[in-house]
Amino acid sequence: MVGVRSGAKVILRKARKGEGPALALLYHRSVRALAAGCYDSDQIEAWAATTTPERAENWIATDEVIVAVQDSRLAGFASLSHSNQTLALLYVDPDFADQGLGRRLARGIERKARAAGIQKLSLRASVNALGFYHRMGYHEHETVIHAIGGTQFRCVLMSKRLGPRPARRSAPVGQGVVR
Ligand SMILES: CC(C)(COP(=O)(O)OP(=O)(O)OC[C@H]1O[C@@H](n2cnc3c(N)ncnc32)[C@H](O)[C@@H]1OP(=O)(O)O)[C@@H](O)C(=O)NCCC(=O)NCCS
Repeated sequence: MVGVRSGAKVILRKARKGEGPALALLYHRSVRALAAGCYDSDQIEAWAATTTPERAENWIATDEVIVAVQDSRLAGFASLSHSNQTLALLYVDPDFADQGLGRRLARGIERKARAAGIQKLSLRASVNALGFYHRMGYHEHETVIHAIGGTQFRCVLMSKRLGPRPARRSAPVGQGVVR
């Protein structure tokens, strides 16, 4: 059994050089399984095709990428772009969806952003993820059309003001920490 509910610990940590291929694989699985209800098959394939192992390796080199790992399996990842002050990427493996992992990754990125002095974190949400970001406290600004090649996607620009750092609590047993 896999997933958070299996009881095995899911650890959040910084992505390591060489993990690009695993990130790209998870990205493809996540888009195809979790966004399919909101975009048509051409859009889904155009979205998935944007990411290659090399591109994902480049994220690790240029952005702050955190991964969620159970045993040695990648369960999700997220990234902070310091230059744009954005939550740039957030992808959960379908086997780990709806188990609170997206929330942990988003919170992990928000902690990193706060630590870097970022006061407002922005993102471009795909339509399938809108409800999730609302739950995470992000506000909608405007609907935009994002183009990948000749394929267009409706997305929504969102942001969240990051308050002061919450008081530190010791992590419950079974939960990892973001380093
Ligand atoms: C969006 C995504 C990251 C959510 O991850 P997840 O691990 O399934 O989300 P969680 O289990 O942490 O959900 C946290 C809360 O959001 C809610 N939620 C999650 N997905 C939701 C959705 N699509 N619509 C409405 N609410 C949603 C959950 O019910 C939960 O609510 P609660 O606070 O009442 O418990 C995941 O579906 C995903 O990877 N999607 C494909 C890639 C993608 O679209 N990424 C975003 C690109 S902008």
